[in-house]
Amino acid sequence: MATSSAPIIETPTVVRIRRRLEARMVHNLSLLSRPTRTLRMLRDDDLVIGFPLYRGYALQIAKQTVAGLVVVIGLLALGIISSTTWLTALAMAILVLVAGVVAWTRWHSGSTSLQRRGLPPGELTTLACPMIDRDHHQTSVDKHGSTFTTNHLRKPVVSIYGLKRGNDVFRDSQADLSPMPRPDNHMVEGGFVRALEGDDHRRVRSSLSPLFTSSVLERLRPVVEASVDASLASWDESGTPARPRPLVDDLVLNMLLTLFYGASAHYEPKRLARLSILYRQIDHLYMTPEMRDIQDQLVAEVRVLGRLPDLPDCLLRELIARSPGRLDDLGLVENVVHLITTSHADMWGLFDWIMKFLVDNPAWFDRLRGSSPEQARIDADAFVCETLRLAQSELLLRVTKRPIEVDGYRIPARWIVRVLVRESHRDPAVFEDPLEFRPDRFVSRSYGRLEYSPFGLDGRSCIAESLARMASAVFVTRLAERFDIETVEDGPLQLSIHRHAAPNSNWKVSLSPAAAAVERAGLA
Ligand code: HEM
Repeated sequence: MATSSAPIIETPTVVRIRRRLEARMVHNLSLLSRPTRTLRMLRDDDLVIGFPLYRGYALQIAKQTVAGLVVVIGLLALGIISSTTWLTALAMAILVLVAGVVAWTRWHSGSTSLQRRGLPPGELTTLACPMIDRDHHQTSVDKHGSTFTTNHLRKPVVSIYGLKRGNDVFRDSQADLSPMPRPDNHMVEGGFVRALEGDDHRRVRSSLSPLFTSSVLERLRPVVEASVDASLASWDESGTPARPRPLVDDLVLNMLLTLFYGASAHYEPKRLARLSILYRQIDHLYMTPEMRDIQDQLVAEVRVLGRLPDLPDCLLRELIARSPGRLDDLGLVENVVHLITTSHADMWGLFDWIMKFLVDNPAWFDRLRGSSPEQARIDADAFVCETLRLAQSELLLRVTKRPIEVDGYRIPARWIVRVLVRESHRDPAVFEDPLEFRPDRFVSRSYGRLEYSPFGLDGRSCIAESLARMASAVFVTRLAERFDIETVEDGPLQLSIHRHAAPNSNWKVSLSPAAAAVERAGLA
């Protein structure tokens, strides 16, 4: 609960200045007060900052800290060696000022000050950024409790531990919370489903969600199986060390394109290749005029495919089955196009982890190969659920449109509210030995939405949960059936550009035909 709450003068100018202070000065200057922590973070060899965004971010932090230290040392030196009294006095005055501001920002960004302002305890500094300290949230839960203040790439965040508590906040403050703004929203006519609100959101979501029902996806399972098989058949099984990441990336993109648009190695292969190139070029995080051009080309390709009389069974065919006129609905087609741009990385990240957990837990090869088809499905689903629990938690973020109250704290407008999925999925009260990879926990009991929720909580939960689960289960089963796989080279986890910890990008494996598969081929 909040302690005493200091009176806040909320005139627009005061608010603007306070925000600027919080966003820039507090973050930057507070680095100075924690140089050892900066160095420790940059040295952390458990998590390689392997991707440019985070490397750039870490370097920026390091530079700011070093620059601050240079200024302080320079002033000290000037003060000590200067023989001119007024220069010494000036250096000392600046030094005292810098020290004062650093001390103030440290205090201002800390728990006591936050609570005095009616905010949850925590820390509002760049160094507290969970993007570069994987355990930041868990440490904060242990230190501050289930609701605490932190930041997300310099934006102030209130984090909530516990799916039930998070669900309550999302539900109770629904009218005051927006989805995170997205650059691709402005590129889609009428808006992209992930960023829309109210009736617009309901309308677009209800046009898309019939594509992802269990019955449609069960019908399309053979399409996914054939696509996964075709990709796996192209993997080198001679035992030459290979990096799984690019292989998995190609497999996922091909599978999504075939499932969505029907194009495959056997049907319109040139269009498949073109779609694949375009999807690799488009970047939904940086929507520029060039991206608009690529998006237009993708829309044109999809429309051509949708008008082909012999289009094979796929989601596009399902979309136009009820009304062929839907191809003329530009906003709808652009939404479909962006379903892949925004989910390809999540699927790819998940498949990467699935392969890693399979290779690291070789008993599961036999388990997935040896079972009956029904048992194999149950086991594969459990394997996928456990992988999602431990390794692929998406960020559940909302922005406050106006101040909201959470646990008695007043969260200002334009702050982020985050539900901590990864940490909640490691709650020992729900998951015994939470850090262990034990898919059987999903076989022996079922978990409710408020205990385990990798696909989101409220009316904005994933529309393609069935797709993701089915495709992942097909992948792990086919992978285990087809290959024996061993790690030949590995490294520490990496923080991926997609905000997930990922297996090291230099992780290499050797693949050979599975003993059982060789036996089956011999018998045939
Ligand atoms: C690894 C697989 C995936 C995971 C773990 C995942 C997880 C999630 C989560 C947690 C949300 C809720 C986000 C929020 O509340 O802010 C979400 C939303 C969404 N997901 Fe997925 N997703 C996956 C794959 C996919 C795929 C393959 C698609 C589409 C082809 C997809 C489409 C969507 C859409 C459209 C939404 C927004 C729904 C709305 O706002 O109404 N997801 N997903």
